[in-house]
Amino acid sequence: MPLLAVNNLKKIYASRFGGNQVQALSNVTFSVEKGEYVAIMGESGSGKTTLLNILAALDKPTSGEVLLQGKNIVAIKESEITVFRRDNLGFVFQDFNLLDTFSIKDNIFLPLVLIRKSYEEMEKRLNL
Ligand SMILES: Nc1ncnc2c1ncn2[C@@H]1O[C@H](COP(=O)(O)OP(=O)(O)OP(=O)(O)O)[C@@H](O)[C@H]1O
Ligand SMILES: [Mg+2]
Repeated sequence: MPLLAVNNLKKIYASRFGGNQVQALSNVTFSVEKGEYVAIMGESGSGKTTLLNILAALDKPTSGEVLLQGKNIVAIKESEITVFRRDNLGFVFQDFNLLDTFSIKDNIFLPLVLIRKSYEEMEKRLNL
C-alpha cells in the first residue's frame, strides 16, 4: 500500500452566486511511497496550491479521494479535521504563517504542547 494515493481528484471553484466556474484540478491520480520525495511543478494557475491544500486537508475536492495510509482524508468529519492535521501532517506555507511573538523553537513546540508532550520529549524531537 502506498503512503499516499490520490485518485481522480477534481476541484471546481464556483462563486457563491453561480457565475464563473474554474476547473482547477481535473482527474489527478498519483501515489507516493514511504520515503519518497516528490516535487510538484507547473505554471502559475495550474493548480499546485489547490492540490496541496487538499492533500493537507485544508480544503475539500469536488470529487475524488486522498488515501493517507489507506484512510480517505476527504471523508474526515469537519469536527475531527483540525486534530487530524495536527497529529498527521506538516505544512510550510508560502508566507510561513508562523506566530511572530514566538521564537522558531516555540513555533515548533506549539503542536507538541497541545498534545501534552513533556519538555524532555519536545527537546528530543527538536534535536533529531
Ligand atoms: N479560492 C478560489 N476561488 C476561485 N478560483 C480559484 C481559487 N483559488 C484558485 N483559483 C483558480 O484555480 C486555478 C488554480 O490555482 P492555484 O492557486 O491552485 O494555482 P498555482 O499552481 O498554485 O499557481 P501559482 O504558481 O501562481 O501559485 C487558477 O485558475 C486560479 O485562478
Ligand atoms: Mg500557488
